[in-house]
Amino acid sequence: MDERIISNNLLIDDEVDVTLRPKSFGEYIGQKDVKEMVEIAVKAAKMRNESLDHVLLYGPPGLGKTTLAQVIANELGVNIKSLSGPTIERTGDLAAILTSLEPGDVLFIDEIHRLPKIVEEILYSSMEDYVIDIVVGKDSGAKSIRVDLAPFTLIGATTRFGDLTGPLRDRFGIVHKLEFYSDAELEIICQRTAKIYDCQTEPQAIVELAKRSRGTPRIVNRLFRRVRDFADILSEGLITLEVTKTALQKLKIDELGLDNKDREYLLGIIEKYHGGPVGLDTIATSISEDAGTLEDVYEPFLIQKGFISRTPRGRVVTEKAYRHLKKSYQGSLF
Ligand code: ADE
Repeated sequence: MDERIISNNLLIDDEVDVTLRPKSFGEYIGQKDVKEMVEIAVKAAKMRNESLDHVLLYGPPGLGKTTLAQVIANELGVNIKSLSGPTIERTGDLAAILTSLEPGDVLFIDEIHRLPKIVEEILYSSMEDYVIDIVVGKDSGAKSIRVDLAPFTLIGATTRFGDLTGPLRDRFGIVHKLEFYSDAELEIICQRTAKIYDCQTEPQAIVELAKRSRGTPRIVNRLFRRVRDFADILSEGLITLEVTKTALQKLKIDELGLDNKDREYLLGIIEKYHGGPVGLDTIATSISEDAGTLEDVYEPFLIQKGFISRTPRGRVVTEKAYRHLKKSYQGSLF
C-alpha cells in the first residue's frame, strides 16, 4: 500500500512498475484454479455479449488481486476504473464514476470492506439492477431521481472477507480466494521480471529470491529491484547468488523470508508471554504495530508456515518457530 500512487483524484494504480503487470491470462502465473474459473466466465460473457458477473477477490496483500482485475478487463476488451474503498467518502463521488462507465466496463474497488456505509448502499442497486437513486433538492423539496447505468462489472478486492457486509457479499456472482504462490511459481515471475528489466541472473539467485519472498509476487518483484541495485554496484549488473545473499542479509530478510517485524512479533510472544496464547491487541501494543496490519499482512504468512496458530484464547507460537529462531522450547502452556 505504501507504493500506491493516487492519480486523477480518486482513481488509483498501485503497481510501482506497470511494465511488470501481466496483460493476459497466459502471462498471469499461478492461481491455477481461480484463473481457470475466471477465464471460463470471461469467455462465456464475451460469447453472449454480456457484461461479466460481479467478481470478488480476497486474500492477503500482494497476491495479484489488482493484477487479475486488470487482466480480466483486458481480456474482456473493456476499460477499467480503479478506486480504493476508504477514499470514496461521498455518494456523489461514486455516482459520478458509475454514470461515466460504458457498457461492459470494469469498476475495480480495492479494500472494498472499507467503503463508507452510505456509499456501499448505492452499490446495491447499481450491482443488481444497474440503477442508482440520486436525491436532489433539500428538506421538503428533496426528491429522488432514478438514473440508469450501463451494465458493468464490479470487481471488489479485500484482505478481509469476514468484514464484508452480507448484502454486499451476496451480490457477487464470482467469489475467489487467492492463495500464496509456490516457490516454483515465484521463480517464473522473477525470471519474467529479470527479462523485462533486461538483467542477467544466475539461476540460483532466482531460486533464492523466490524462497525468501513469502509466497508473494509483490515481494519477489520488490526484492528483485533491491538486489538489482546491489548487482549494479557490486557485480556489473549480474545478479549472482552471492550478491543476492548479501543484499537480503542487509535487508534483514532471513532464509525463509521473515523480516524484522515477523521476528519482533514471534520473539515478543515468546519472551513476554511464554509463547502464548495471547490476544492480538496485546501483541500489537507490545510491539507498537497496528493490529489490523498484523492480522492482514504478517499473520497469514506465519500461519501458512506453521509458525503460529490461532486458538480461541489467542495466538500461540509453535515449536517450529522456536526452532527457526533458535530458542529453546519448553512446551506450550496451552
Ligand atoms: N505480478 C504479480 N502477480 C503476477 C502473476 N500472478 N503473474 C505474473 N506476474 C505477476
